[in-house]
Amino acid sequence: MEINGAKAAVTGASGGLGSAIARALHARGARVVLTCRREAPLAALAAELDGADFIVCDLADRRQATELGDRLVDTDILVANAALPAVGRLEDFTPEELDRALEVNLRVPMLLTQRLLPGMLARRRGHFVYIASIAGKIPTARLSVYSATKHGLRGFSGSLRQDLLGSGVTTSVVFPGSVVDAGMLADAHLPAAPGSKGVTADAVAHAVVKAIEHERAEIVAASRMERIAVRVGGVAPELMARLTQREDAVAYAEQLRDGLRHIR
Ligand SMILES: NC(=O)c1ccc[n+]([C@@H]2O[C@H](COP(=O)([O-])OP(=O)(O)OC[C@H]3O[C@@H](n4cnc5c(N)ncnc54)[C@H](OP(=O)(O)O)[C@@H]3O)[C@@H](O)[C@H]2O)c1
Repeated sequence: MEINGAKAAVTGASGGLGSAIARALHARGARVVLTCRREAPLAALAAELDGADFIVCDLADRRQATELGDRLVDTDILVANAALPAVGRLEDFTPEELDRALEVNLRVPMLLTQRLLPGMLARRRGHFVYIASIAGKIPTARLSVYSATKHGLRGFSGSLRQDLLGSGVTTSVVFPGSVVDAGMLADAHLPAAPGSKGVTADAVAHAVVKAIEHERAEIVAASRMERIAVRVGGVAPELMARLTQREDAVAYAEQLRDGLRHIR
């Protein structure tokens, strides 16, 4: 789909990846609509991107999320990027934290898709991009909740994409590896996964543009090591499970849990 002239909404636009994605879509000629909870970073980014609009919304609040869908009804491209890291052992989540992660990471992307889809189908033009993670391909320790939401996005997108064949509307999933220069890991001063050099937020934004322009079902935007891990995990999940139980991998998972505990 051509991005130039399209109306493109980006959730989580104040975050490291969201702002890079919004800039990349704007550079391709999209009219961007930015959304997240905090007004100041949204207003600053909107001022930087000519013609951009912004909507403050807490996606964990069902009323606000529904209203957001109503306001975005004429959107051509939705990038569902906002998410919580939801890291830790399942038994350490309160039921409210569990609900919030499922809501923001999975239910809201589905809800917004449902709301925006009829308009796109009527116009025979539209693209949904879901930002997952390689945790949506490879399950690893301490990420049961996060990984479930990201696997969920993959299943949702892949299945919906088949239902939409021939309609002019399609879907993509982008699976970032460890992003080292911006976003949740960088903000918490956490390193890339063991053995990975990580990727930049711009590389993920580039993958989003490519997914839309080339109507790709899935793109893994990750380091070479992470891309190999995804391939091996796809054909040999038990081998990959053994590799991700290595001491350094579990120690890294614990580091993520401690470093991102404040975001629930
Ligand atoms: N960074 C990485 O290494 C990495 C790797 C793989 C996948 N990803 C995925 O990439 C996406 C972006 O990650 P990031 O690193 O850019 O994260 P981030 O910097 O923490 O940004 C998260 C964004 O989501 C918004 N958000 C969080 N809770 C919200 C809520 N209840 N309502 C509305 N907006 C909410 C935040 O804005 P407010 O706080 O203002 O609401 C922020 O704009 C996520 O889907 C993440 O899972 C990231």
